[in-house]
Parts: sequence; C-alpha cells; structure tokens
Amino acid sequence: MATVSEQKSSLLQQFNETRIRTLNLVQTLEKDDFVVQTAPFTSPPKWHLGHVSWLLEILMSKTSQNYEFYSREFNEYLNSYYLQFGEPHDKAKRGLATRPTVDQVFEYFHIITNKVTNILQNKLLDEKTQQLYFMAINHECQHQELLVYDLQHLLADRYRPATRNPLPRSLQQKLSTIKIDGGLYTVGYSGDQFCYDIELPEHNVYLNDYKIDAYPVTNSQYIEFMDDGGYSDFQYWLSDGWEKVQNEQWKSPMYWESIDGKWMTRDFLGRRKINLNEPVCHVSFYEADAYCKWAGKRLPTEAEWEKAACWNEKKQRKSIFPWGDEPPDHTRANLLESYLWNCTEIGAYPEGKSHYGCHQMIGDVWEWTSSEFSGYPGFKTGFSEYNDKWFANQKVLRGGSFGTPAISIRGSYRNFFRLDERWLFAGFRCAEVV
Ligand SMILES: [Fe+2]
Repeated sequence: MATVSEQKSSLLQQFNETRIRTLNLVQTLEKDDFVVQTAPFTSPPKWHLGHVSWLLEILMSKTSQNYEFYSREFNEYLNSYYLQFGEPHDKAKRGLATRPTVDQVFEYFHIITNKVTNILQNKLLDEKTQQLYFMAINHECQHQELLVYDLQHLLADRYRPATRNPLPRSLQQKLSTIKIDGGLYTVGYSGDQFCYDIELPEHNVYLNDYKIDAYPVTNSQYIEFMDDGGYSDFQYWLSDGWEKVQNEQWKSPMYWESIDGKWMTRDFLGRRKINLNEPVCHVSFYEADAYCKWAGKRLPTEAEWEKAACWNEKKQRKSIFPWGDEPPDHTRANLLESYLWNCTEIGAYPEGKSHYGCHQMIGDVWEWTSSEFSGYPGFKTGFSEYNDKWFANQKVLRGGSFGTPAISIRGSYRNFFRLDERWLFAGFRCAEVV
C-alpha cells in the first residue's frame, strides 16, 4: 500500500508529465494552426489547451474555498458540454472565436499548471480530492488523443511531431482464431489505482463458448470485403448504417482515396499506398458490423473482448493488461508515447499478447464491440455529466490506440462513440460462435 506522500508524488509527477506531454503535442505548430477547426467534430488546438485547464479550474473551485476563476469570459468558450457550469459555446463554432487569443490560452495554461502544482505539492489532500485530480489528469490524456485525431484532420503529413520513432520491424503472421471457454466472467476494473466510474462495479457476466481473432482485421481483409461489393449491398448493413453509406457515399474507410485503381491514404506517415498488413483504421461501428456480417462472423461483446484480453486461465485471475499487471512499455504496445504516429502491422508486439494469445489488444487501434454503452449494474457516478450522460446511442470500444497516452489505458477501460463516427483511430476484431 502506497503511503500518502508516495501517492502525492505520483499524482504530482503524473500531473507534470501530462502537462508537458500536452505542450509537446503542439510544440511544432504554427500560430495559425491553433485557431482553425476543420470540421464540426474537431476542435481547434487552442481550445483543447484551454479546456483541459478549465476543467482543472472547475476542480479547484470544487475543492478550494472561495476559488476565484481566472476569467469569467473564458468559462463559456472552454466549457465543452457541462450544463451544470453554464451554457457552453457552440461546439461547431469553436474555430470562429478569436478570443481567447492563442497567447492568452498559453498564459492561462501555465497559470493553471502553477496553481495546481502548488496544491498538489503543499496540501494534504483527502482521498476524494486526489481521485478528482487523477480524473483531471486522465481527462487531459483523453484530450491529448482527441488533439491527435484533430491534427490528422487539420495537418496529417504536414504535422511535424516533436518526437518520432522508427516503426518496429514487420513480422509475417498467419491469421488465426482462438477458442475461449464460456462460463461466468467478472467484468470491470480489479486494481487499486485510478479508474473511471464506468469501469465499476465489477460484476459477473455469463458467456457462452466463443472464438475470437488473434489479430485485428487487416486492411488486406477489409479490401476483400470492399472488392466483394461490401459497400454496395444492403444485406450486410444495419438500416441506419445503410442510410449513412448512401447519404455520405461511403466506399472505403475515412481518409482513403482511390487513385489510378490503388487505395491510398494520407496520414502522419504521408500520402501513401494502403499497407495491407496494418489493422484497418478509421471505420465506424456500422462498417465493422457490416464486415463481420459479410465474413459470417460478429463483433465480440465487451465482456468477451475483456476476457480474451485479460483472463489468465492458468492462474485463474485476470490481469490489468493482456501481458500482466505491469504498465505498458514500448515493447508491449503501440501507444502515444511510442511516438510512431501510426498503427503498426499485425504481430508487431508479440510481447504484448494476451494469456490466450490475442495480439495488439492494447494500443494500435481502438476495437469496436457489439456492446451498448451504459452503466454497469450498480453504477454510481464519479463526476456528474462526465460519462453518465452519454448512456444512450453509443457503442463501447476497447483497448486504446497509437494516440492513447500509456498512463490512461488498461484492459477494463471503456471508450464510447456514436455508431457512425470514424475520425478516431478505430478498427475491430471478429468473434464467432464455436
Ligand atoms: Fe473534456
């Protein structure tokens, strides 16, 4: 059990590292880049920097007496969707606001960093307050990933990362599926560190025997579906998904372009031919579901995904990560701090495979599951309006992506997006009945 001062230093250390990571992501941007919003679902980089600082102010106001907000004017623009703190600025119009200026946002960012650092250094914080600051750190991690999505939309190959590491060597892999015995499985977070309210409480779920792919579905597999008329045959699609295909003229994953009969993409690695051995990325839930139908398979439920990722049959216990309880490092998973700026080919992380032998369940691409996003039985909110107001019309994704900060991911983490969203780094793996 960590002592109070150990917990405090890890909180302070995580906070400082997180603030520095946010600044690193925007270190090479030009000033003009900070203001622009290229689509209603993205946000200008300056907004992310301001918003994460604003949430820290909200926590300070809740946990310190007579807290004076830095600026009432900032509050409206930097509030994302919390109605309890006033009417937020229109999300789709964040790129039209020239105030606060980029310089003001940076000044604000540094002032808030100093204020929070002082609190974390000097005050004896009770357990509840510590948990709130851990939440704010994890919230900033979520925005770092959102910022990476936005940077792809805004700049893609024109973005110059402060750090870029070489991609791991590619390994030839034979696709396979793994059989997993059913029975009762206890879903949820079992560790003693921070987790979100939606990962609790642990509870039993009955699973039938099932099979799950050892790897995420690759571009090569997905192109087979496309070449077989996947996007032009209604029979593979949910009704809402088919409507999207028609209205949006979907013919491929987002960012793909057919040039002279060859599929190309434009991402942080440049304008390039699709790499057939990478997991398919930038697909919506509808596309993942349609592929599975075409392949005669289905998406796993989140409980099936979690058991395949974390259950150790030999030890009869689950681990926090597929490989065990040790935190991720560059040998086990492709996460933000790998600074590869792309997903890696399947099989690139043999040391990160799960006890059952499933590869890349943490990192590379988020994986769509068939599960509706809602509270686990007995759910209690940890922070009102943060997660719980999204308990409708969203599906759960698991596992993190190459844009997810390492401290913020674990096997029990539940991400959630609407069924038609595909600007995130999302792919999937298939399951099937035995
Ligand atoms: Fe937020």
